[in-house]
Amino acid sequence: MKWMILGGEGQLGLTMANQLTKLDVDYISLSRSQVDITNQMDIEDWIIREKPNVVFNAAAWTDVDAAETSIDEARKVNSLGPKLIAEACARFGALTIQLSTDYVFSGNADTPWPENAKPSPISVYGKTKAEGERLTLEANPNGAFIVRTAWLYSPWGKNFVKTMARIAVEETRKIEVVIDQVGQPTSAIDLSTRIHLMITNNLAPGIYHGTNSGQASWFELAQEIFNLIGEDSRRVLPINSTQIQRQAERPLYSVLAYDHWMAQGMLPMQNWKDALKDVLPTILQANETGE
Ligand SMILES: NC(=O)c1ccc[n+]([C@@H]2O[C@H](COP(=O)([O-])OP(=O)(O)OC[C@H]3O[C@@H](n4cnc5c(N)ncnc54)[C@H](OP(=O)(O)O)[C@@H]3O)[C@@H](O)[C@H]2O)c1
Repeated sequence: MKWMILGGEGQLGLTMANQLTKLDVDYISLSRSQVDITNQMDIEDWIIREKPNVVFNAAAWTDVDAAETSIDEARKVNSLGPKLIAEACARFGALTIQLSTDYVFSGNADTPWPENAKPSPISVYGKTKAEGERLTLEANPNGAFIVRTAWLYSPWGKNFVKTMARIAVEETRKIEVVIDQVGQPTSAIDLSTRIHLMITNNLAPGIYHGTNSGQASWFELAQEIFNLIGEDSRRVLPINSTQIQRQAERPLYSVLAYDHWMAQGMLPMQNWKDALKDVLPTILQANETGE
């Protein structure tokens, strides 16, 4: 099995490459300067040259607020790009793994969203990702996996957990964090391991929810980070989303359900608190060395 990672310099691209190295899997990881996923020739040339069995698309427009004013650009990367990748995979007989997001849902719920719930995005980012899902499934109906994830963190790239850990350790100030958005903090390491397992276990193509289990608000997540580090979690102060001005609206309740994993005989991923405990020491190290 040979894997090809697209968007190889992003947080999840770097994490997946690291996991595949650990698992001794043959792979090539390509950065944006090597493959622009909106360029059909780039994609096809590399697939012809490398003959991957699995194409893992971690490339995306991920600036949720900027997408509100750069609609065409966000759509090109999040909708057209996945379509071109899935078409090329179908043509050359490779599996497509397309990453998606809890932001394809409105957040107007109080029970977890199943995989087959109709997307109801409330932001441009969510709309473009939902379109990317649909186009991927249409273009490679027998070989496409959509993996929706959420609130990703890892020792690589920029993310909320790294930022909070740095504030906890290096600063003494208090920090206001939103309490009315509830989702699933997810270790990019756990997610990468799970996606690899999904392929080695020959799971059926379709939509899966790739998040650590349980649920939390951003406030609870920040408090847990402070507690685990041994800093005073009373420095974390709760605020409501209405108290901060942001261009894009965020879903208030975007917890995802795992019916498809269960139907395929796989348990949900571990609880977010256990995952955080696993990864935090490496995140603290990365902060220390300025990675
Ligand atoms: N991070 C989260 O919390 C989160 C939550 C839910 C879902 N997801 C999904 O998970 C996936 C991975 O996210 P991430 O956190 O790893 O994002 P990330 O760190 O922002 O990485 C995205 C990568 O895509 C690259 N890219 C952008 N446009 C490209 C193009 N046209 N061609 C090739 N590469 C391009 C970016 O390059 P530049 O930096 O040079 O622009 C960046 O390296 C995405 O599909 C995202 O929607 C993430």
